[in-house]
Amino acid sequence: MATVISFGIQKGGSSKTTTSAIAAYLLSAELGKRVLAVDLDSQGNMTELLMGPDVDIYDYQGQTVFEAMKEQNARKYVQKIPGNDRLDILTAEDHLAAFPSWLYDGYKGNRALVLKQTLDSVQDDYDYIIIDTPPALGDQTINALAASNAVVAMFEASKFCYSAIGRFLETCIHIQSTVNDKLEIAGILRSLIDARRYDNKAFIELIEADYEDVCFKTVLTRTAAIGRLGINGFNKGYELNNALNPYREFMEELMQRVKVTV
Ligand SMILES: Nc1ncnc2c1ncn2[C@@H]1O[C@H](COP(=O)(O)OP(=O)(O)O)[C@@H](O)[C@H]1O
Ligand SMILES: [Mg+2]
Repeated sequence: MATVISFGIQKGGSSKTTTSAIAAYLLSAELGKRVLAVDLDSQGNMTELLMGPDVDIYDYQGQTVFEAMKEQNARKYVQKIPGNDRLDILTAEDHLAAFPSWLYDGYKGNRALVLKQTLDSVQDDYDYIIIDTPPALGDQTINALAASNAVVAMFEASKFCYSAIGRFLETCIHIQSTVNDKLEIAGILRSLIDARRYDNKAFIELIEADYEDVCFKTVLTRTAAIGRLGINGFNKGYELNNALNPYREFMEELMQRVKVTV
């Protein structure tokens, strides 16, 4: 059975996509795990990041996670990631924005469990399923949480993200008590930190004071190499290897936490 991990927060620009894509990449390319990445954001950024700069997300129109959920059949729509035998993806593009209207017009079952039921058929094909979510507490995020063993709450050091985090964790707890008692909050991951900004430093400390044990020890900074991932993809270029080091540290922590919680 795969361990399913979601990355979320209802605030855009918090490194959800970047971090979830890197997690899927490191687990498969470096840790030898079989991984399915699931892009649940209609922006399709995780698809773009993992497929690489030469692939157009619209090439997968009609073969995305949305079709997989409509048919409750993941295997039919899983795509291979070029150059990485152990990493597959359920892609996304703009039409996924119609997921809520499909859910409320055409779907008869429990609306929170569509993704879980879709992934059930491929649970044994993978060691990990890594889900990227959109910046909202809407149906995609609810489905991601309902399908997950663990969730990483992304925290980018800003007032808006600070305002969002409490409600995000409440939503996770609500999902635990209603549709998914297996869900564990793996932790709050601080990212996109600019060490030169005193307000960033203040938010790092504030969130730690509020949620001490919940915060991962690893704090991810803003680096040019990670910022350029969308342009360069995961080419084994000179600048990427060092930039991934803090993410390797985070993955070690994550594996330890998920091992004890799942
Ligand atoms: N560690 C990082 N260093 C530099 N830029 C980053 C880093 N993480 C994310 N970014 C950039 O910040 C922006 C938002 O990140 P993204 O992963 O798309 O966030 P989200 O999915 O939460 O909206 C993107 O342009 C991305 O390239
Ligand atoms: Mg994103």
